[in-house]
Amino acid sequence: MTHRVAVLAGDGVGPEVVAEARRAVDALDVAIEWTDLPWGSAYWHEHGRMMPEDALEIVRAHEAILMGAVGDPSVPDHVSLWGLVLDLRQRLDLWANVRPARLLEGIPCPLAGRRPSDVDMLFVRENTEGEYAGVGGRAHRTLPDEVAIEVSVFTRTGVERVLRFAFEHAETRRGLVTSATKSNASRFGYVLWDEIAEEVAADHSGVRYERVLVDALAARMVRAPDSLDVVVASNLFADILTDLAAAIQGGMGMAASANLAPGADVPGLFEPVHGSAPDIAGQGVANPAGAVWSASLMLDALGEPEAAATLMAALEHVCRDGPRTRDVGGSATTREVGDAVAARLA
Ligand code: NAI
Ligand code: MG
Repeated sequence: MTHRVAVLAGDGVGPEVVAEARRAVDALDVAIEWTDLPWGSAYWHEHGRMMPEDALEIVRAHEAILMGAVGDPSVPDHVSLWGLVLDLRQRLDLWANVRPARLLEGIPCPLAGRRPSDVDMLFVRENTEGEYAGVGGRAHRTLPDEVAIEVSVFTRTGVERVLRFAFEHAETRRGLVTSATKSNASRFGYVLWDEIAEEVAADHSGVRYERVLVDALAARMVRAPDSLDVVVASNLFADILTDLAAAIQGGMGMAASANLAPGADVPGLFEPVHGSAPDIAGQGVANPAGAVWSASLMLDALGEPEAAATLMAALEHVCRDGPRTRDVGGSATTREVGDAVAARLA
């Protein structure tokens, strides 16, 4: 069976890292038909929008989307993000953003004395509402009393489904769910979240549940990453925490993510956690590990767990033995790392 995958390479280092992820997948024994979608900032300059009007229908004709990153200094970030990735997440209702934060052997960890066995967290980020619901507005523009209102939206449905998903993952792992909110200071959305978390926890007696304030959790991730298993949090909080998690696992270039709509017949979107990294774009030095890892998550979701595991094993092998890019202590190019992964698979 041939899987149809849409490729949204995007901007900056996106095309550089996606090319290596794609080459690695092509070296596996799975049949993939790729569709290149030239959407992103260059498309915006030409067409005045980040993607075409029928973008949803186009991606829906695929089983998965492999994405690089969007964002370019020539386009306001809120335009590029909302015009593409946030829009796709919302309109495909990709409500679970799964981000494994594991320190791979051979990758330097910035935390003194920490080894790969100390860093194995799984972040589950609510992905369609919360602080990034897109609700709000601005008035009195440019006047001295200009005002901007940004409204967080928490629905029982949205919160409950992502919490259930996190607890189900914990059942297959070390059996701990840490739910991060800020319900001491924000009294409505996060308090509802905490209440639903208690209810969901009651349905999962085999899972330990703890509620932690998000600021304290940030400190704990640095002090004791080994005390965490599955972390579930709102859109904004998990966005921030997963950049910290990426740093702990060796840097932005290492981190992978899957945007999923569990149980629904829509394509998942698989992308490294990092952005378009304009500071290193075009130099051929971006770390492709996060993109390759994301492709492994994609293969899993496509029902190809063996290929997913083979790809992940090849990536782990290359991280351990090199070559590595400079952000993780090596001097190799993006392409050389991709070559090494593909060679492991040949
Ligand atoms: P960034 O993740 O692009 O870069 C942060 C730092 O990490 C930079 O120093 C960069 O060089 C480094 N880095 C990122 N990816 C790397 C890789 N593969 N290998 C080695 N080093 C890497 O975040 P930043 O600078 O805040 O945002 C840049 C642009 O990306 C902005 O336009 C932003 O809106 C966009 N963005 C897009 C995302 C997406 O498409 N999902 C996610 C995050 C940011
Ligand atoms: Mg982010």
